[in-house]
Amino acid sequence: MELFDLLRKRRSIRRFQKKPVPRELVERLLEAAFLSPSSFNRRPWHFIVVDDREKLKALSKAKLGASGLATAPLAIVVTADESRSDVWVEDASIAAEHIQLAAFDLGLSSFWVQIRNRIHDEGKPAEDYVRGLLGIPSNYRVLCIIGVGYPAEKKPPHGDEVFEWEKVSHNSFGQPWKKPGDSSVQ
Ligand SMILES: Cc1cc2nc3c(=O)[nH]c(=O)nc-3n(C[C@H](O)[C@H](O)[C@H](O)COP(=O)(O)O)c2cc1C
Repeated sequence: MELFDLLRKRRSIRRFQKKPVPRELVERLLEAAFLSPSSFNRRPWHFIVVDDREKLKALSKAKLGASGLATAPLAIVVTADESRSDVWVEDASIAAEHIQLAAFDLGLSSFWVQIRNRIHDEGKPAEDYVRGLLGIPSNYRVLCIIGVGYPAEKKPPHGDEVFEWEKVSHNSFGQPWKKPGDSSVQ
């Protein structure tokens, strides 16, 4: 798919068909993640592919806003070794977004479940819950979980309302970026 078409049409999907994601597509998603840029090319990430139904159900209870994982046939847990990079959050975030874009390109849908800085319950970090569930070593931080599958809901592509030109400055903060023919901007 043409890149800008894909960027417009990709939406977060949180309800999925039962149909499993074929193994070759799972590997394409991982290839997309491995193609990410990273600071100093340190590549601190480690991805955990989860397709075990009981584990997916347990992951859906990681925090509020994770329940869509209960119907997802696949989740990719994005972790990174924080001892390898002080900017592991950025590196892992780019990899996660590569997975989301690749999923859409492959006819799949996805959504991001934030784990870092989120609470499971009674003050327990969602990271600790996921770490315990999947046996993740303590030097690996858990950024997010990408739920993936064939969509069971439809969403329209993004419209032009996402283009918030007022959030763009030219040369200094607050100096408007002028669009040709825009009479509302002095
Ligand atoms: C850093 C980040 C954290 C997010 N956390 C969650 C989450 O925990 N649960 C969820 O259902 N969606 C989550 N999302 C998805 C956003 O809600 C979604 O991208 C946003 O509403 C825009 O909708 P769209 O993806 O359809 O364009 C997250 C997205 C990002 C980038």
